[in-house]
Amino acid sequence: MVRLSPTLRWARAADLPGMASLIREQAAHGRMLPRSAGELHQALDGFRVVVDPYGGVLACGGLRCYGPGSAEIIGVAVQDHSQGLGLGRRIIDALVGDARARKLDRVFALTLEVAFFRRMGFDVTDFAAIPEKVARDCVACPFRPTCRETPVVMSLVQEAVGRWTPRRTRHRTLVG
Ligand SMILES: CC(C)(COP(=O)(O)OP(=O)(O)OC[C@H]1O[C@@H](n2cnc3c(N)ncnc32)[C@H](O)[C@@H]1OP(=O)(O)O)[C@@H](O)C(=O)NCCC(=O)NCCS
Repeated sequence: MVRLSPTLRWARAADLPGMASLIREQAAHGRMLPRSAGELHQALDGFRVVVDPYGGVLACGGLRCYGPGSAEIIGVAVQDHSQGLGLGRRIIDALVGDARARKLDRVFALTLEVAFFRRMGFDVTDFAAIPEKVARDCVACPFRPTCRETPVVMSLVQEAVGRWTPRRTRHRTLVG
């Protein structure tokens, strides 16, 4: 018998109810912030989903761009029964790949699951390091005084700088 495995793909409008219900359930557990249907609809273009063979949404997560340089990872959630199977990692890897394809300098997230994001290669930072997010959302957020979320960030430019620096040094040595 052929066993069909979950598929990772871009989210479609038809996935919106499944995404909304998944995020609502995880938010009800107090593990993430809720997202309104309108918010998800607006951000749909940047979302990835993992679906079962019947099209049920098992996991989701999206990129929300801030200008040319950075994007926020939002709405990362995995169904309770599918957690611990690598689906969260598949979503994060795909989103980081999407950010690289868009030539972004960095991706960041606000999260209650700091250990998970650290495992995915993110570093803990502070709100001063994500002024674009603070200006867009945090300033007007009614939960700001009691916010428990931690900012985490992944730089996407370090490798390029590392490759470039030695070449420049060698060139200087040759002409000097
Ligand atoms: C956090 C969440 C997305 C993780 O998804 P998942 O599919 O269970 O995680 P994976 O199976 O892909 O785990 C990947 C790695 O992260 C580790 N990991 C997963 N959850 C973790 C956690 N809460 N703390 C520390 N490490 C964690 C796993 O052990 C695994 O490590 P490994 O590579 O050494 O094996 C999922 O538990 C979830 O949906 N939580 C509720 C919503 C939420 O917290 N969203 C976070 C954004 S706000």
